[in-house]
Amino acid sequence: MLLCAAEAGVVDAMARSIRRVWNADIRIVTTDSHPASLVTASLLSDRHVQVPAIDSPAFAGHVLEIIRSQAITDYAPLNDHEILALDSALRPGGDVAVWSCARAGELTRNKNAAYDFLIDLGIRVPRRFAVDELPESGPVFVKPLKGNRSRGSRLMQAEDVRDLSPAVRDSLIIQEVCESPEITVDSFHDHVTGHHRSLARERLITKSGVCVAARLYEDDKLSDIAFRIGEALHQRGTICFQTMRSETGPVITDLNLRPGAGTSMDAAAGLDLLAAMVACRTGAPVAPLIAARVPKEGIHITRQYHDHVMP
Ligand SMILES: Nc1ncnc2c1ncn2[C@@H]1O[C@H](COP(=O)(O)OP(=O)(O)OP(=O)(O)O)[C@@H](O)[C@H]1O
Ligand SMILES: [Mg+2]
Repeated sequence: MLLCAAEAGVVDAMARSIRRVWNADIRIVTTDSHPASLVTASLLSDRHVQVPAIDSPAFAGHVLEIIRSQAITDYAPLNDHEILALDSALRPGGDVAVWSCARAGELTRNKNAAYDFLIDLGIRVPRRFAVDELPESGPVFVKPLKGNRSRGSRLMQAEDVRDLSPAVRDSLIIQEVCESPEITVDSFHDHVTGHHRSLARERLITKSGVCVAARLYEDDKLSDIAFRIGEALHQRGTICFQTMRSETGPVITDLNLRPGAGTSMDAAAGLDLLAAMVACRTGAPVAPLIAARVPKEGIHITRQYHDHVMP
């Protein structure tokens, strides 16, 4: 199977999960813009190929060539750029099984489409403002329609948003300001077999954007939302979404059609949602990978870097 942008933590975690559960039985090809000597996950892959960066226009062509030359049968796009780059390049039903959800490209490309999708399911989202609905003054939260990794997301004053050029404004979504805590829900769902498991994760310590301590807990209401999203997306794998508090109660602030960067924290608690993704796509038993229970009060998980001497 193919894993791109292998320098990312979630890709490394996926490779570790595969080796832990299947040893050498699954052939892994990794790619990254860096050479193997700089990518830890290459220690776990059978082959590493250096390719252009995932946000460069040349990326998709290289991936298609690797799929052909390496006879790849399965491809798990694990970040938004891949979903966007490969949405039109790789269609379901081709030679390679692409492990993504229905509408992944459309909902990743435009946060408004993602919010409309949630509203249609009866799921609450933050209030959105058109320019003529903006409050007279006071803070609003803006983010790029096609944003990820929080880039460009910020608090702005309503009057400053009004002063933006129409072109800039049209590239943004303008929302009410929500309050912490921000909870991430990691959700594994298999639309075909009905297997479902989701876990709420509260970031307790974040260093340079990376969560290094979190509380994991079960939340029936969030699991119900995750289930409904999974069914609507015909999901066969693991995705994540975030909730915050709005003036009128909890809302979903972001929907990501790929596993979250902290999904490996669930595996530390015995719930390997990344391995479950592989199992459901390859016909292996899913249930043992998602069976562990988490105490009602939750469990604390911490994270540390590890050092490797590379070949
Ligand atoms: N309505 C809001 N009010 C206040 N803060 C918000 C709001 N929406 C998002 N945020 C904050 O901005 C950050 C980025 O927002 P969001 O998760 O929607 O964007 P993203 O760029 O898709 O991020 P990611 O790559 O993590 O999916 C969030 O982690 C959260 O802290
Ligand atoms: Mg996002």
